[in-house]
Amino acid sequence: MVNTITVVGAGNVGATTAQRVAEKRLARRVVMVDVVPGIPQGKGLDQYESAPIEGFDSRIVGTNGYEETEGSDLVIITAGIARKPGMSRDDLLATNAGIVRAVGEQIRRTSPEAIVIVVSNPLDVMCYVAREATGFPRARVLGMAGVLDTARYRAFLAEALDVSVLDIQAMVLGGHGDTMVPLLSYTTVSGIPVRQLLDQATLDAIVTRTRGGGAEIVAHLKTGSAYYAPSSAAVQMAEAIVFDQRRILPCAAWLEGEYGLRDLFLGVPCKLGRHGLEQIIEVELTPAERVELEKSAAAVREPMQALATLTR
Ligand SMILES: NC(=O)c1ccc[n+]([C@@H]2O[C@H](COP(=O)([O-])OP(=O)(O)OC[C@H]3O[C@@H](n4cnc5c(N)ncnc54)[C@H](O)[C@@H]3O)[C@@H](O)[C@H]2O)c1
Repeated sequence: MVNTITVVGAGNVGATTAQRVAEKRLARRVVMVDVVPGIPQGKGLDQYESAPIEGFDSRIVGTNGYEETEGSDLVIITAGIARKPGMSRDDLLATNAGIVRAVGEQIRRTSPEAIVIVVSNPLDVMCYVAREATGFPRARVLGMAGVLDTARYRAFLAEALDVSVLDIQAMVLGGHGDTMVPLLSYTTVSGIPVRQLLDQATLDAIVTRTRGGGAEIVAHLKTGSAYYAPSSAAVQMAEAIVFDQRRILPCAAWLEGEYGLRDLFLGVPCKLGRHGLEQIIEVELTPAERVELEKSAAAVREPMQALATLTR
């Protein structure tokens, strides 16, 4: 257990994340920050009142400022607007960049030693904005997307195979968008290569559904985007860091030549431990997967350049 975990944004993803962090006993204090007066205070109090029932001892505090967050060990950024039907993640670029930049500057001031997990979209670019604003080393700025995309992929595979979700091992790499790269060559069911169990047409349909997994939920909800699975994914990363688990999870990390790519955040297999990013694991890719990863990197560079133009 660490002392303080801060969740910035007390909306759907943020509030669910704070509750999960407390229920998993990851921190003594969970601080939820939002710009809307009353919302983080009300939700935080409501959550704290569930403590005697759920049996956790974390104190959950809601606030509109950063003084209560001082010295946080971990900060999860969920602040920003979410997608509505018909919107792409990149449509959120200008608004969320301004929000994440302001949040990053506050974190730099109040929690200079924190590890940051970014959730706000467009994810890979918001990681870049957070890294620039905090000035933190790459080990301490990570993005959550791959764990969620992989969970969707695993859920759909388990459904098609009628097996436990726990028996599907898989990894989705690349940017958090339509160009994400599910690695079929590394997808196994209790060690059995998935291609021995499902035909190509079924696998193709599952990959397509995974790529559109976020949009499928937005189309149902109409007024917002997914938050139960996204908060689970962010908290799985937090848990790996807090308990120094050395788990290998697909996360957005700043690349410095890994996979032949540099100067961008992209989803790659990361070993997570008490220092944040402990190592990027480079796996062999098939020529097709390599092409797809490069395409995905190009799709992430586009909004990065658009942002540079916007802020020039
Ligand atoms: N990475 C992923 O896989 C993933 C998955 C789901 C959602 N998301 C993204 O997470 C973000 C949040 O989604 P949501 O569903 O919780 O949205 P939401 O609208 O429910 O909540 C966002 C919250 O951020 C707050 N906020 C705005 N500006 C702020 C600031 N400067 N400081 C603090 N708080 C601020 C808002 O008041 C609001 O309460 C969106 O950008 C969404 O696209 C990412």
